[in-house]
Amino acid sequence: MYIANSGRYQGMVYRRCGTSGLKLPAVSLGLWRNFGAQGNYANMEAMVHTAFDLGITHFDLANNYGHPYNGSAEENFGRILRDMRGYRDEMCISTKAGYDMWEGPYGDRNGSRKYLIASLDQSLKRMQLDYVDIFYHHIYDPDTPAEETALALDQIVRQGKALYVGISNYNREQTAAIRQIFRELHTPFIINQPSYSMLNRWIEDDHLDEYAQENGIGLAVFSPLYQGFLTDKYLHGIPQDSRVGRGETWLGDQLDDAMRARLQKLNEIAAGRGQTLSQTALAWILHNPAVTTVLVGASRPEQITENAACIRNLDFSAEEIALIEDALRQ
Ligand SMILES: NC(=O)c1ccc[n+]([C@@H]2O[C@H](COP(=O)([O-])OP(=O)(O)OC[C@H]3O[C@@H](n4cnc5c(N)ncnc54)[C@H](OP(=O)(O)O)[C@@H]3O)[C@@H](O)[C@H]2O)c1
Repeated sequence: MYIANSGRYQGMVYRRCGTSGLKLPAVSLGLWRNFGAQGNYANMEAMVHTAFDLGITHFDLANNYGHPYNGSAEENFGRILRDMRGYRDEMCISTKAGYDMWEGPYGDRNGSRKYLIASLDQSLKRMQLDYVDIFYHHIYDPDTPAEETALALDQIVRQGKALYVGISNYNREQTAAIRQIFRELHTPFIINQPSYSMLNRWIEDDHLDEYAQENGIGLAVFSPLYQGFLTDKYLHGIPQDSRVGRGETWLGDQLDDAMRARLQKLNEIAAGRGQTLSQTALAWILHNPAVTTVLVGASRPEQITENAACIRNLDFSAEEIALIEDALRQ
């Protein structure tokens, strides 16, 4: 039986999600990779326990996470939760629907009421939960009216199957459009989940971060380490046992000499701050006041421990920011 570390809340920072009442840990754990049926269950369990022991109370899932079959990450997470039931009210559990999930016209990439409601019911069964804390529409669907998606999410909340709702992979304009509908419905829409990192700054170009902050919407950012580039892992080559080495990411081709030189420079700046590269990369994101939490992935517990320690130094001098901008322009 798992018993949580009694000092778990001392080591984490909690940030209000937009203007909602919900606080999320600055560092959250994402279960996209390494939690599927093909993974090592003992390692998955150790990662979830390590995270919770560090005060990481927020776990991010989706209906389609897990390899080799969609939903296996939720199944494994549900199994891990069996020994953690007593801590359910100390956890914030998120899931999503929107990408391809099951065969036929109702489970492919879309935002229909038919898909979202059925999918959340399946997710709750897989995780053996009565409700999730946040349910997201996973990716903008130009073919479904925003009213339909919003009404489905609103109904899910009113049925008690989710406490809050969010959207993911929506740009500023798409966010503004659906927000208006949620406001009319009084839906607890509190969060947007975009990708964002030192190496992927589209939300700044789109001004999505400013928009979210001005309108009280939290941001949970995904792939904050650019799938592992912003760690010390690829500084001197491509280890076999890495996401790039295993061919599990489409980003591998970007790991050329110029990228490695940039990462080396960033690594030196991080060392000057007394941090590892991953810690500085995460702190840099959290330095953006629009961001509530970074959703970090991991393949082993030690990575979670290293990453969570980023909160010990979230401040940047103007000089450090300039050095980072310089390195990123290289
Ligand atoms: N909404 C969406 O569309 C969407 C899309 C993608 C992800 N997400 C969410 O965001 C979460 C995180 O995404 P991500 O996994 O791409 O994020 P990431 O944090 O950028 O990358 C995580 C990977 O980097 C490596 N890593 C992490 N910490 C490390 C450390 N300290 N030292 C060395 N390597 C380290 C590990 O890969 P190795 O295997 O190489 O060790 C780990 O699996 C997902 O789990 C999911 O919850 C959402």
